[in-house]
Amino acid sequence: MSLSIPRLIGHRGAARHAPENTLAGMRAAALQGALWVELDVKITADGVPVLFHDDDLDRTTNCHGPVAQMDFTSLRRLDAGSWFGASFRGERVPTLAEALQAAILLDIGLNLEIKPCPGRDEQTAGIALSMALSLWPADRPPPLVSSFSVTALEMAQQVAPHWPRGYLMDEPPDDWAAIADRLDVRTININAARQTAESIAAYRATGRPVLAYTVNEAEQARRLFAWGVTGIFTDTPQGLFQALTGKGPKG
Ligand code: G3P
Ligand code: MG
Repeated sequence: MSLSIPRLIGHRGAARHAPENTLAGMRAAALQGALWVELDVKITADGVPVLFHDDDLDRTTNCHGPVAQMDFTSLRRLDAGSWFGASFRGERVPTLAEALQAAILLDIGLNLEIKPCPGRDEQTAGIALSMALSLWPADRPPPLVSSFSVTALEMAQQVAPHWPRGYLMDEPPDDWAAIADRLDVRTININAARQTAESIAAYRATGRPVLAYTVNEAEQARRLFAWGVTGIFTDTPQGLFQALTGKGPKG
């Protein structure tokens, strides 16, 4: 299936406007007009795929300690919204299944970033993608599956071979192009802050679209687009759209 990548992708939902990796964040992104959202996927101690970014609970919940050591029932009791703002009090950590359902209802596309806790790369990708495959309607464009973890991408290649993969990199290894070929990735997803016209040209020379994270300023977005970047991850889809087009909510 061809990959229709939008210019602006809501990062962790719409991370500037609602707590990251929550259903509220997905709604905020959709309300802001984002066509896709990027979400981080981990598994709990008992193997339930959920949306979560950090290895520890501390920053984005009212609890502390490693996510990998908490079972789903306990994780579900946590408040994943109050840290962000009082109006999000009681927001829960969503399951991947809930997030997929929300994406279908909101009619938005997904980039699922497999974000394993240390040592759980294979398991995280295997469990999350088997579940996603069983729930995702065959007639919808499949999520783009990305990861910094080569092991997770190898697992994605086995479990969901026909779902497009994105190779996420911060500091690219010397053999990144060979790895991208071996993993048969469709996109190259890179850290916007590290790029130059030359680096983007090198990624594009592999024939793959380039996606850049995380961009909230119009000037940086314009520069990246001018260098040939296809899409950018932003915490503020509407704000960046307005800054890029000069249009406010009332036109
Ligand atoms: O997938 C793009 C971006 O989300 C990667 O970095 O740390 O925000 O998950 P991070
Ligand atoms: Mg991410």
